[in-house]
Amino acid sequence: MTPTNEELIADARTHPAPLLPLLHRLHERDGYLSEEALRAVSKGLKIPIADLFGTVTFYHHFARTEGGRSAPRVCTGPICHLNGAGELLASLEGATAMPCSGRCDEPIPVLLGGQTVVGLAADTLVARDTPLPASPPKGIEECVFAHIREPGRKSLGGYRRTGGYDALEKAVTSMTPEDVIGIVEASGLTGRGGAGFPTGRKWRAVLEAEGGPKTVVCNADEGEPGCFKDRTLMDYDPHALLEGMALACFATGAPRAFLYLRYEYPETEAVLAEAIHEAEAAGILGDDVLGTGHPIRIHLRRGAGAYICGEETSLLNSLEGKHPFPRNRPPYPVTHGFEDTPTAVNNVETLSSIPPIVSQGPEWYRGLGLGEHAGTKVISLSGDIVRSGNYEVPIGLPLATLLYEWAGGLPAGRTIQAVTMAGLSGGFLAGDDLDVTLDEPSIRSKRSFLGAGGIMVFDDTRDMVEVAHLAMEFFADESCGKCFPCRIGTQRLTERLAGTAGPSEISEWLDEVADLNETMKQTSACGLGQAAPLITESLVRYFPEAVQAHVSGSAAVENSRPVP
Ligand SMILES: Cc1cc2nc3c(=O)[nH]c(=O)nc-3n(C[C@H](O)[C@H](O)[C@H](O)COP(=O)(O)O)c2cc1C
Ligand code: SF4
Repeated sequence: MTPTNEELIADARTHPAPLLPLLHRLHERDGYLSEEALRAVSKGLKIPIADLFGTVTFYHHFARTEGGRSAPRVCTGPICHLNGAGELLASLEGATAMPCSGRCDEPIPVLLGGQTVVGLAADTLVARDTPLPASPPKGIEECVFAHIREPGRKSLGGYRRTGGYDALEKAVTSMTPEDVIGIVEASGLTGRGGAGFPTGRKWRAVLEAEGGPKTVVCNADEGEPGCFKDRTLMDYDPHALLEGMALACFATGAPRAFLYLRYEYPETEAVLAEAIHEAEAAGILGDDVLGTGHPIRIHLRRGAGAYICGEETSLLNSLEGKHPFPRNRPPYPVTHGFEDTPTAVNNVETLSSIPPIVSQGPEWYRGLGLGEHAGTKVISLSGDIVRSGNYEVPIGLPLATLLYEWAGGLPAGRTIQAVTMAGLSGGFLAGDDLDVTLDEPSIRSKRSFLGAGGIMVFDDTRDMVEVAHLAMEFFADESCGKCFPCRIGTQRLTERLAGTAGPSEISEWLDEVADLNETMKQTSACGLGQAAPLITESLVRYFPEAVQAHVSGSAAVENSRPVP
């Protein structure tokens, strides 16, 4: 029998962080969120109705009209644009656009309710498995991808075959939280979600913080355009992530964890739910981890479509059922995170690195990097490149080696014009500045950053002003609107890149754009508004002639293959 609003609400109230799962159940039951259902939620969870409507309508994917949940959503991220997403969108009845949905290495993704299909045209859309990463070149040792290609790896049995959960067993039976944190600190591991904060130091701050219950949160929101590494890790090696989360819980003293997954990964949700079920049934997770009396419960929560929810404090507000604005900091999540308790928020790749580090030791991990750099980083490579996909590289590898030796270079006859860094947030690198190594110091010396490791490649025929326009439009659409330098600045920059507003005299245009850039960088409250200006700054730096032609209204003579 179909459960009533009241039954679903009563059940939701028995779980932590109940709002999102309750809304998803109603959304799936009815195919949309009706006013009647929302009024019942407001009453049942004691959320003022105006706040609830504001929160629900903030997310991209909660449909408010009948049948809306299953209407097609077509990815219009930068690479899908290059592949013709505009035409696909126009050809599918009732379709709406969605921002980059984390499949830049595949044909255009379309979300149909609870399923993703991919294709370049309406009549070729098919469901397809996530591509596995290609094997690394000879002599390269991996960390998180080391076992990912083994058949059956996603099942508990497959994971245990090569020592899965041994690190957790060793930790909970013969180590202290201090020991685990010591290993993670000595490994040099830094956050792989974008900001690069030292993981061991974050965990120590949570361990030493007053109050509780402490919480671990896995950030699986992966909303940065051009990034699709976390989905691969979760689809093929979900137990490695769960083991990493359990080790984080043990090290920080947290009895509970949340895994916050982006809405656009419905197939991944099923993989994770099954893995959690298997680990609990085997006594690895739950109230008595491996018979030691330690409780570690992992709760899976699904977002509803909002790039800003990848920012850790927005994510925490989203989990708590609040409007997902970023929080002012300090205080930081390590002391005041989920429901104001000490919380470690970590990215999927960061957490998946932990079991091999604990098993094989910090020296082993440090030694995977090149020169003085510690460890590895997964790079998601897409765009005008022969073999797009995920590559786990030693930190410090030259970018040119990845592009030309590992990924086959550009399609025949094409040369490189620019790449993005950190997905989109690092802006562009071009010209002599492509001569970098894949590590933060090298890339930061070029006024960009490696961040979460998404790199999109644009060949010599692309219209870079149009690419920059698409990028800024994304930031303008995804700005949460909490602070005006970002809310208005991203709009003003989008208009100037579209050519619909702004001075027609180049020096005035450049002055105005530089002023907008600087104001946003200095005064925006979070990383979105601080990073978006890197797009315009790097466009002006590397492509002055194209900008000049754009501002004067003349077509750029070269570099003008349109973005469809
Ligand atoms: C606008 C914005 C979006 C972000 N999106 C993500 C994301 O999708 N996934 C992620 O892990 N971190 C994201 N981050 C970084 C998180 O705020 C946070 O630093 C990270 O989850 C911490 O984990 P780590 O230390 O393991 O990297 C984002 C940051 C900003 C400012
Ligand atoms: S910088 Fe932008 S995204 Fe961040 S809080 Fe301000 S308005 Fe929101």
